[in-house]
Amino acid sequence: MDVIRLDDKEFVKFIPHGKILSAVEKLARQVEKDTSDVPVFVVVLKGGMIFASDFAKAYKKPAIFDFIRVKSYRDTRSTGEVKVLLDISEDIRGKEVYVLEDIVDTGNTLGKIIEMLEKHQPAFVKIVTLFFKPEAYKKDHPVHFTGMEIPNKFIVGYGLDYNELGRNLQDIYQLKTDESEA
Ligand code: IMP
Ligand code: MG
Repeated sequence: MDVIRLDDKEFVKFIPHGKILSAVEKLARQVEKDTSDVPVFVVVLKGGMIFASDFAKAYKKPAIFDFIRVKSYRDTRSTGEVKVLLDISEDIRGKEVYVLEDIVDTGNTLGKIIEMLEKHQPAFVKIVTLFFKPEAYKKDHPVHFTGMEIPNKFIVGYGLDYNELGRNLQDIYQLKTDESEA
């Protein structure tokens, strides 16, 4: 078993890097087909940074990139409260906007981001997420493009953190105990 320790918790290897990259490639192909204009990709920091970087390399048509930073997580549980730390700088009025998210869990973060972006009257806002936890999702808003659906357990790696640690891991690791469901 491939186990690592981050801070006070242990994590087990769950999804290898190659499998993640295939999912990213597939998402890039899907969005290339979906867009009819030069889209604006809004990267959700910090978690979306690695995904967005591989997505950008895989995406073969002209595109604009922008960044947003929100914070909603403490430890391995969602706080439900979403704070905006960095807003977009591009003019997205009339633009096709795709939000690049590392993971959609409860959907609280997503709800807040969509609300913020819709105020600028873009042509549309669509969601592109690498990981999606369907069992945890509480919102009605559609998640348009999903790389992989995963069980409702805490994961780290490939941009995702546990108390800021683990973002630089190439593979995805899953929390070893049942603490994520406690
Ligand atoms: P939501 O608001 O509950 O959908 O949570 C969204 C944000 O919480 C994500 O963008 C991540 O930053 C973080 N998050 C959710 N699930 C996980 C996880 O399993 N590992 C690490 N971060 C997570
Ligand atoms: Mg995130």
